[in-house]
Amino acid sequence: MERRLVITVDGPAGSGKSTVSRILAKRISYMYLDTGLLYRAVAWRAMHNGVFITDDEALGRLCDGITIPQETDGEMRVLVEGADISGDLRTEEVGMLASSLSAVPAVREALLPLQKSAGRQGGIVAEGRDMGTVVFPDADVKFFLDADVDERARRRYLQLIENGKNADRGEVKRGLEVRDHQDTTREIAPLKPADDSVIIDTTGTDIEGVVVKMAGIVEERARGGSGPVC
Ligand code: DC
Repeated sequence: MERRLVITVDGPAGSGKSTVSRILAKRISYMYLDTGLLYRAVAWRAMHNGVFITDDEALGRLCDGITIPQETDGEMRVLVEGADISGDLRTEEVGMLASSLSAVPAVREALLPLQKSAGRQGGIVAEGRDMGTVVFPDADVKFFLDADVDERARRRYLQLIENGKNADRGEVKRGLEVRDHQDTTREIAPLKPADDSVIIDTTGTDIEGVVVKMAGIVEERARGGSGPVC
């Protein structure tokens, strides 16, 4: 592949976007950027520093000293003031708080330059909620992944069980619905497909099938074609 593209992947929690973005990035030797980890890192800091969700200024300051997530030993790692807190970020509690504080303008503004700088050279698969709409509006290829909420809850539940966590499927589904509502209705950078995105419904589709479809579209665009419009 000649041109180093900027590829964005947005979608709700459990849509499969993290898994397929990571595989796709590996397959085409691009960098994978998991922006959810940045919001989770801010949430973790807010919890540990006792910062309230209403304290916009303090939340904005918590974004200082957070690094671009990088893969080390097969795990995506994010550093906060040099400390690796990655292992604490994948809980439902942190995810829910991340969703709440991601609606705070000071947080979104503070994290924006960091995300943009990661994509400056191209060669990136950037995943999140507003990659194609706000962070990389001129991206070469934009995907929006979605899936039925029951299917997303099933995936998230199995993931938690696999990681040795206690989980209740109904509760997981309710949590996803709350997060969907928060992420899609916030005033700044709400979760929505960019007008020029390729929308893929991953319900009932295997990961490999989705990755192959995405890789085909990326290859077509890298060769200069406009690619299929779905
Ligand atoms: O992808 P995730 O579940 O790790 O993201 C956690 C929360 O962070 C998500 O519910 C909303 C927020 N987020 C965001 O607002 N914008 C992004 N680009 C990525 C995540």
